[in-house]
Amino acid sequence: MNTDEVRDKYLKFFEKRGHKIIPPAPLVLENDPTTLFTSSGMQPLVPYLMGEVHPEGKRLTDSQPAIRVGDIEDVGDNRHTTFFEMLGNWSLGDYFKAEQLPWVWEFLTQELGLPKEKLYVSIFEGDESVPRDEESYEIWKSLGVPTDHILEYGVDKNWWSRSGVPENMPEGEIGGPDSEIFFEFDSVKHDPRFGEHCHPNCDCGRFLEIGNSVFIQYIKKNGKLTELPQKNVDFGGGLERLVAVTNNDPDIFKIDIFASLIGKIEDLTSKKYEGEESAMRIIADHIRAANALSNAGVIPGNKLQSYVMRRLIRRAVVKLKSLKSEVSKDDFMALTDSEVIIEEVGKFIKTLDQGLKEFEKLENVDGKIAFDLYQTYGFPLEITLELALERGHKINVDEFKKAFGKHQEKSRTSSAGVFKGGLADHSIEVTRLHTVHHLVLAALQKTVDPKISQKGSNINAERMRMDFNFSRKLTEDEVGKVEALVNEKIAEDLEVTKKIMPKSDAEKLGAQMEFAKKYPDNVSVYFIGSIDLPFSVEFCGGPHVAKLSEIHGRVKITKEESVAAGVRRIYAIIE
Ligand code: SER
Repeated sequence: MNTDEVRDKYLKFFEKRGHKIIPPAPLVLENDPTTLFTSSGMQPLVPYLMGEVHPEGKRLTDSQPAIRVGDIEDVGDNRHTTFFEMLGNWSLGDYFKAEQLPWVWEFLTQELGLPKEKLYVSIFEGDESVPRDEESYEIWKSLGVPTDHILEYGVDKNWWSRSGVPENMPEGEIGGPDSEIFFEFDSVKHDPRFGEHCHPNCDCGRFLEIGNSVFIQYIKKNGKLTELPQKNVDFGGGLERLVAVTNNDPDIFKIDIFASLIGKIEDLTSKKYEGEESAMRIIADHIRAANALSNAGVIPGNKLQSYVMRRLIRRAVVKLKSLKSEVSKDDFMALTDSEVIIEEVGKFIKTLDQGLKEFEKLENVDGKIAFDLYQTYGFPLEITLELALERGHKINVDEFKKAFGKHQEKSRTSSAGVFKGGLADHSIEVTRLHTVHHLVLAALQKTVDPKISQKGSNINAERMRMDFNFSRKLTEDEVGKVEALVNEKIAEDLEVTKKIMPKSDAEKLGAQMEFAKKYPDNVSVYFIGSIDLPFSVEFCGGPHVAKLSEIHGRVKITKEESVAAGVRRIYAIIE
């Protein structure tokens, strides 16, 4: 089967079972300063899994593009990618295990036609705070799964939260036990380097995880797991992997969506995929991920999402160079239409040869040298590490990374919190600044230019930041006017009201949309001021203060700067 067929079958299957197909969230989530990227289908749904009412109801399904940077070092094997699409279905306090597991089974065995004898499932074995998942065990048995195909694992494997095992879940994080499904490839012989016996969670590649039903029913409160008011289902299945198993091929890079990219890499390098799998997979994955980031409006740079994009592009360049001695911008023009990617390739190529020459002179590398290579020649850490290992340098990878991290922290932003993952920050400080964000956008439109729209945002407890389309620097007078208007509205103590309405009605009202976001048929809209004559109307999931006096202070614009051609960035704080 091909990717479109599998995606289509899945969404229709769940639509028939009462689910509303919702559009995917952007790869870079607005108002979620705690993570860099959308990394699972559930992430944009966290408020609803915690009890907020979703405008589209209690049964939802979608296909969510996601990035997992944590997997970057695994890319090169037959099944890992940094960018992927995750098929998902959710019950927001509606159905539970008795519906979910039979549906997934039916989808895999009947819709996709996977042979039952190739499928294995796992359940949570229980620990001191959450009991063994008897119910899932019995359901799998009743579906005819033989008991030797039902495996039990502990929190390391059969517990899901965005921050992993219960112990690592921060206060307010949600999660629960899960039940995974695996496909067995007879063609892959067990590799004893991964352990004496093969089993579904073995990493040798004989088994591939293709789906995970998480039973999200806990929240971490006062350090303990506490039952959520509702029992939820959160299913996620990697689309690329599902397509690969329908073809009974363990190499996910052989599916339709990679064919043209791999073909182009073969042409450029005059080499065959067979024999150069690892490098070609890395190039294909990283270019695909960088393209997705480019479409999401990310520009390569030194911080946060921009730095991830830089690493992906530069690693693809180095890998291409390992297959072909001369690498040029033109090569990448054959691989992508994105101008920002091509520009970044151009920048890196200028220092690449010199950097490689310097590298060859080294006897050994440590964290400090890696940092110098990064600063002078723009070599991201993974590249230095890989080059060093390829040349047989003896390296304690963990110590090396620690040392590199220390140097990096000293000179760059310290964005550690962002990498931790965790709950979208709905603290009162962030909520207040989120409302300020709406006010600043409306004030910009009213005092500077009605055509201004937002291009991205980032809010933390200290400040709000918004990107918007505008071609020049704001004058001091303009900044003063924006600030004055925002504070005037706060002094008027306008009300903030949320309404759920059809998307078309919200569009008629001229409600502001988030950049690069697609919306479902019914949306939630926030009004500031009267509903008939509001100061601001935005498509938004919230949360916000109920009235502007709750902002508790005066808004001050602290900075306004350029980030790219035609895009400005503005910062504001509450004093
Ligand atoms: N959230 C779970 C996962 O990412 C299932 O959707 O695996």
